[in-house]
Amino acid sequence: MSLLRTRIDLDAIADNARLLKERVGSARLMAVVKADAYNHGVERVVKVLEPIVDAFGVATAAEACAVESASTRPVLFWMWVPEQDAIDALAVGAHIGVPGLFHARELVDAEIPASVYVMVETGMHRSGVDPQDWDEVFVLLRDAEHITVLGVCSHLASADDPASPVTDRQKAEFERAIARGRELGLELPVNHLANSPATLLREDLFYDQVRPGLALYGASPESSELKPAMTWEATISVVKPIRAGECVSYGHTWTAERDGWIAVVPCGYADGLPRSAQGRFELGVNGGRYPQVGRVCMDQIIIDLGDNTAGVAPGDTAVIFGEGGMSAGEFADALGTIPYEVLTLPKGRTVRVYEEE
Ligand SMILES: Cc1ncc(COP(=O)(O)O)c(C=O)c1O
Repeated sequence: MSLLRTRIDLDAIADNARLLKERVGSARLMAVVKADAYNHGVERVVKVLEPIVDAFGVATAAEACAVESASTRPVLFWMWVPEQDAIDALAVGAHIGVPGLFHARELVDAEIPASVYVMVETGMHRSGVDPQDWDEVFVLLRDAEHITVLGVCSHLASADDPASPVTDRQKAEFERAIARGRELGLELPVNHLANSPATLLREDLFYDQVRPGLALYGASPESSELKPAMTWEATISVVKPIRAGECVSYGHTWTAERDGWIAVVPCGYADGLPRSAQGRFELGVNGGRYPQVGRVCMDQIIIDLGDNTAGVAPGDTAVIFGEGGMSAGEFADALGTIPYEVLTLPKGRTVRVYEEE
């Protein structure tokens, strides 16, 4: 077995999807599986989700093609420029998000059959058709015989902060866009806005479909019912004594205050653990928690075992985050980031190991 692994609990992902599906009732569930299913491995995740969800969502055309080949469900991609890979994705039947007037014109001129969602700008100010262009885009797409408009969608900027007034402003803009599209003669049967926090916290934002990602992987802090699916762990390679006054790792930035024991964990910045994480987190070993000390190296880190009364030995498993260690949320807080980034850290020599009943 590899010294460094992400253990992926596929049953947890399936359970989370079932829970979300039940929660949203008659609304469709589009599972967001971009970025290699948030680094859980898109092929296996799609296979597990296929019987539970109604559709998949990804960012790029290449991701859409990968999901299309693994699934019979509709797949939407929303980040593209008019190049061959987008045409390839349309050719295999992927649905496409229209993020601006330029993109609408390109799709109309391309004369390639396409099923589209109009991504409307409602306040995120990232991708999305600006309100002054809504009419032109709706009419262009409505009048193009090779284009089917499935609905409108948009993305929430602050749904993870229930106190933020931004979400209600976005909701109002979203509903204004749907109403305007319908006034212009579009049916718009499937409209979607809700990401994970909105799917968990805001029933009024379900519309015809929800579009969660993080919650599927169980790392959403808004719900204790969800099961975390990823554990990042390594096999301890060395355990040895250290004397009071001795220092560890590059630059000798940590000094042992008393005689004790240290362990070496084979995970470094080449594997996605930021060098800036030094001294900010603890690893779980055999039910105990041990602080990481000294510089993060390219391939390894060191943990302080104290007196090592628990008898930690080479071959034991050290959990960087996940089951038996800090949760992805705790780890994110310790590193000054968010669970989304934490899930996508593991790389380099990390090997995925799947668990499924
Ligand atoms: C356009 C879009 N929709 C939905 C999602 C899913 O968001 P979350 O993972 O917060 O559920 C994302 C992810 O960032 C996204 O970019």
